[in-house]
Amino acid sequence: MSTEKTNTEDDWTRVDRYLIDTLVAEDDALRAARESSVRTTMPHVEVSPTQGALLALLVRMAGARRVLEFGTLAGYSAIWLARAAGEESHVDTLELEPQNAEVARANLEEAGVGERVRIHLGPAAESAEALIAAAAEPYDFVFIDADKPNNARYLRAAMELTRPGSVIVVDNVIRGGAVADADSPDPRVQGAREALAAAGADPRLSTTALQTVGVKGWDGFAVLRRER
Ligand code: DHB
Ligand code: MG
Repeated sequence: MSTEKTNTEDDWTRVDRYLIDTLVAEDDALRAARESSVRTTMPHVEVSPTQGALLALLVRMAGARRVLEFGTLAGYSAIWLARAAGEESHVDTLELEPQNAEVARANLEEAGVGERVRIHLGPAAESAEALIAAAAEPYDFVFIDADKPNNARYLRAAMELTRPGSVIVVDNVIRGGAVADADSPDPRVQGAREALAAAGADPRLSTTALQTVGVKGWDGFAVLRRER
């Protein structure tokens, strides 16, 4: 076995590029959506291509048709989710910023999934409350990837909007390792810690989280399955 170390950010990026080139078939619409994140309020924070492909695989493994996303940004992940969930699917994606929603809308149309993706403009917590109040049919798959300080709140909302068997993914829960720092002053880190603590303590959920390195540095995501 090789003893070469791959432990710098350059190495992580090089390996991610290799994996993306080898495994991830992005079409023009996905590529354009990813590149369009420079026109959003938060350039370059969309999921990486390998992460988008993982979301798609998880959606398909779960047989998900109804998908809920917290945080649309440029719509890059929403395209992966909507395509994976299929032609009969419906995706609700929640976005605070009108500018981002506008960029995303164009990308979703271009990707051919515009008709099955609805962007809900406004604070994600409020949009989720409205879905709960409207007794929305349970979602099969939820991707939590909006403002991080609210992650525990979004997880609580997700529990109101899912059913046993539903899968939930929470992005960005490692934050360069800061998640293990109980005293971190960063509200995004505390948001991740609150969501992980809530998930770990909830007997309705099976949860794990994995660290990732790659084109987005050192971060990670949690995967949850609602058991009851
Ligand atoms: C940030 C947000 C994300 O969703 C992400 O994947 C990476 C970074 C951020 O807020 O910095
Ligand atoms: Mg993210």
